[in-house]
Amino acid sequence: MQRWTLGEDDVRNQESLAQAAEMLRVGKLVAFPTETVYGLGANALDEAAVQRIFAAKGRPADNPLIVHIADQRQLADLLPAGYEPSHVEKKLMDAFWPGPLTLLFPVGQQVAHSVHPGRDTVGIRMPDHPVAQSLIRLCGVPIAAPSANTSGRPSPTTAAAVEEDLADALDGLVDGGHCGIGVESTVLLVDDQRAIILRPGGVTQEMIANVLDLPVVYDANVTDANAPALAPGMKYRHYAPNASVHVWWGDPEDVHRAMLELLIDDEVPSARPLPKASIIAPDDFLSRYEFPIARELQRPLPHETYEDALAKNLYQLLREFDHEGATDILIHGVNPGRGLGTAVMNRLQKAAEGRVFRV
Ligand code: TXA
Ligand code: MG
Repeated sequence: MQRWTLGEDDVRNQESLAQAAEMLRVGKLVAFPTETVYGLGANALDEAAVQRIFAAKGRPADNPLIVHIADQRQLADLLPAGYEPSHVEKKLMDAFWPGPLTLLFPVGQQVAHSVHPGRDTVGIRMPDHPVAQSLIRLCGVPIAAPSANTSGRPSPTTAAAVEEDLADALDGLVDGGHCGIGVESTVLLVDDQRAIILRPGGVTQEMIANVLDLPVVYDANVTDANAPALAPGMKYRHYAPNASVHVWWGDPEDVHRAMLELLIDDEVPSARPLPKASIIAPDDFLSRYEFPIARELQRPLPHETYEDALAKNLYQLLREFDHEGATDILIHGVNPGRGLGTAVMNRLQKAAEGRVFRV
């Protein structure tokens, strides 16, 4: 595997990116950073290359891939001949591209079939990351890229996490540092009547509602539980570490009390933590859990809320706790009805297999 490391300043290191782009163009697999998570890329017009993505990840064959472009003109490579984006689609692209919004379009014949198994739509997004954009421009073809993890593992937000899962399967890896947002893009199905969020992500329901004069709803609320999932990826157990994850959200003091109740065994006079519990909590609460492996979130930047810091660090922390052999991971959650909290709590629901409690 070839590995290129790009610092903030050499994002325009065209030499490395040109090599990576050439690999993609000729059908190889190259992982690269986006503003959400790292992607495992292949030429979206090359069926053999796309099939290698499924083999590398151990991905179920019925789970479609998102295609990444750097310029709206590339839509012509992906949509049926003569298809003109609708007024609503144009509005969304203008408002949120580049950015973490994946839109489903009717798919053109040129797109490799494995990108959209059994479906007549293709998910497309334009990543807001200089490395991803340069790479796509340089290779000149649209890039199919799922998150660059083994299926079922937390998505990678660093190049090291990509290597941990996929080193043997990759031809190339572009290391562009830590991803900014940390949870995946919003997947949106839209027509003239309404917009349906199939996967909550970096672009929130409020942001979409502000731009459209249409109802913006959640798939979970409109689809019968027994109906086939509109976004197949959402039905799999996902984002799961080996440890048991427990999440509480609500008033932070109440969350703190609920966590202590689980941690402290009343039967034993000397309070005893779970054998190997790890904690994710806001900075000002961490010091109140008195055992050694409570771990601080990467210290939030001054303008960053706990919610943003949680989104950005969650996957990486889950991986680290697994390495440390944690048996239980206790997490101060956030309000799932607001902003990025919806995406974070959606991922936590899966990681916690339902152990999410409102206090
Ligand atoms: O932020 C992201 O979206 C990242 C970066 C790399 O761009 N990619 C990503 O891809 O998360 P992946 O494959 O891990 O998740 C794609 C999700 C899955 O839930 C999949 O089922 C859904 O999008 N999806 C893709 N194409 C679809 C389609 N045509 N119809 C319905 N769902 C689709
Ligand atoms: Mg994924």
